[in-house]
Amino acid sequence: MPKDDNVLSEKKIRDCLEKDTDIKEIIVLNEVNSTNSYAKELANNGKGNTVVIANSQTNGRGRLGRNFTSPASNGIYMSIIIRSDISLSISSLMTPCIAVAVAEAIESVCSCDVKIKWVNDLFLNERKICGILTETSVNRGKLDYAVVGIGINVRKSEFPDELRDIATSLESETGQKIDRNILCGVIIQSIEKHMRNLEKREFMEEYRRRSFIIGKKVLIGGMESVATACGIDDYARLIVKLDDDTKVAVNFGEARIIK
Ligand code: BTN
Repeated sequence: MPKDDNVLSEKKIRDCLEKDTDIKEIIVLNEVNSTNSYAKELANNGKGNTVVIANSQTNGRGRLGRNFTSPASNGIYMSIIIRSDISLSISSLMTPCIAVAVAEAIESVCSCDVKIKWVNDLFLNERKICGILTETSVNRGKLDYAVVGIGINVRKSEFPDELRDIATSLESETGQKIDRNILCGVIIQSIEKHMRNLEKREFMEEYRRRSFIIGKKVLIGGMESVATACGIDDYARLIVKLDDDTKVAVNFGEARIIK
């Protein structure tokens, strides 16, 4: 069992939210296969504006079919069901917008400098601390709902061999003790604030400022040769320059930085 000050609590999370929050329900679970899968089931039964958070996940999922290691009491494993009238073209901006919201929330809880690796990974001192998995359901050409899953490594922990050099945790990097309930509440609040202005694309400037991929050599999944990342456009696509100086806008996939 986690120690009292490390127990996830619906009340403590809700206490961090503003009075005008649109979040109707916060569901706290001890263990679940994946908060995204759980939230999708709720959304398919009509739920919206609901947060699902678990103390551990037995089958935490990442992008591109990867696993997200989710040991008990160690991290934040949270999914938010968002229902909104936004168009599908705007909905593709949700993940970068939420990346900015989570980065700002983390910095307001512990002093550090969070960077974003296109599209959806948050980094601290060049190692990953957080990933975001957005899954959407579309109905008649419009967004029905989005489930936004956020996984943050909070406590010091042993990572599997393949992650040891690329992942880290908030507490290992900052040396600060982090209250997961407060961090969750501040993240939800920050996401609500940014999502209200999604269509204005106000977050884009901050998304670019936090990017540490610009100017670096990258290998994009599906492309054969190394390219140079040279910008991020208003659709949050990564602009890369190829060997022959042509520029290509990439809207999906993984950009591996070549050192
Ligand atoms: C990634 O790094 O590729 C994305 C990781 C997303 C992990 C979070 S943890 C909460 C939610 N539930 C899941 O199964 N995945 C997301």
